[in-house]
Amino acid sequence: MKKKVIIDCDVGVDDALALILAFHSPELEVKAITGVNGNVPLDLVFINIQKVLSLIRPGQRPLIARGADRPLKGKPVYAHSFHGADGLGGAKIDRGEGGGWGQIFPGPAHELITGIARQHPGELTLMAIGPLTNIALGLQKDPEGMRKLKEVVIMGGAVRTKGNITPRAEFNIFVDPLAAQMVFEAGLPITLAPLDVTHQVFLNPQLLEERVRPINNSISRFVIDSLGYDLARHRFRQGREKFHLHDPLTVGVVINPALVEKEKIAIQVETQEGECWGKIIEISGDQKVEVCFKVDSPKFLELFLSRLED
Ligand code: BDR
Ligand code: CA
Repeated sequence: MKKKVIIDCDVGVDDALALILAFHSPELEVKAITGVNGNVPLDLVFINIQKVLSLIRPGQRPLIARGADRPLKGKPVYAHSFHGADGLGGAKIDRGEGGGWGQIFPGPAHELITGIARQHPGELTLMAIGPLTNIALGLQKDPEGMRKLKEVVIMGGAVRTKGNITPRAEFNIFVDPLAAQMVFEAGLPITLAPLDVTHQVFLNPQLLEERVRPINNSISRFVIDSLGYDLARHRFRQGREKFHLHDPLTVGVVINPALVEKEKIAIQVETQEGECWGKIIEISGDQKVEVCFKVDSPKFLELFLSRLED
């Protein structure tokens, strides 16, 4: 039986790779994709969801919905410097003729999430690979509907390691710490993939040249372009030597939970403004979440690379 999933995302280069992995995985049935403000403004996120769908051309068109265009509190923080002005590293996607590859849901993202959860009680996995604003809105507006979810698998946080947007905080949690705190204290069955584990999986020049480039299909060309890979210099955009697969790993954890080792711990998010804003803090408490700390990186990379093929 395929796992029914919804992906809440802020596309974003690694979000795009996560969508490709999800749609190319026979283990999953992607019912919907919802967009949230994050790496780029919501309007661009929604355009990018549709662009990536026209690259993937899924057999079954998922529902797509727009979500929050700002965090619960404070101003948006974008990551254009990392994901490019358009959020997809400037990679060209031919959107082709005819209608779109997603069915547009007229309401907000959180209504689509709880609506599908209610249709399939105890069966739906929600993957959240952007800031947690839409999930928090779902909890505010329809907590009963959110309790129909089977599980929530989240990319976010730096638990026992340093952050990536500040020394203490990871991007998704930093953008909306209030939403994250609301989600972690809600008592939902949560699995968290923080930087502690996502920093263990990355593409490097060797993998790009030996494994991705020879595939030579529209997907592999998109990977090379969106990562800004320079064949002459053997470097990614901004001269980077690695490209971390944060969001794809989160999808990998849903496809095969045995890829990771977890610890069940209680956490909270620092929501006081200051240098710790958005930091994850381990606490003693009953509201525990499953946190992934180790991954079988070769096995995950094999899964990811094999699914770039048609
Ligand atoms: C997370 O932040 C975003 O930039 C990525 O898409 C990923 O979800 C990593 O910190
Ligand atoms: Ca993301």
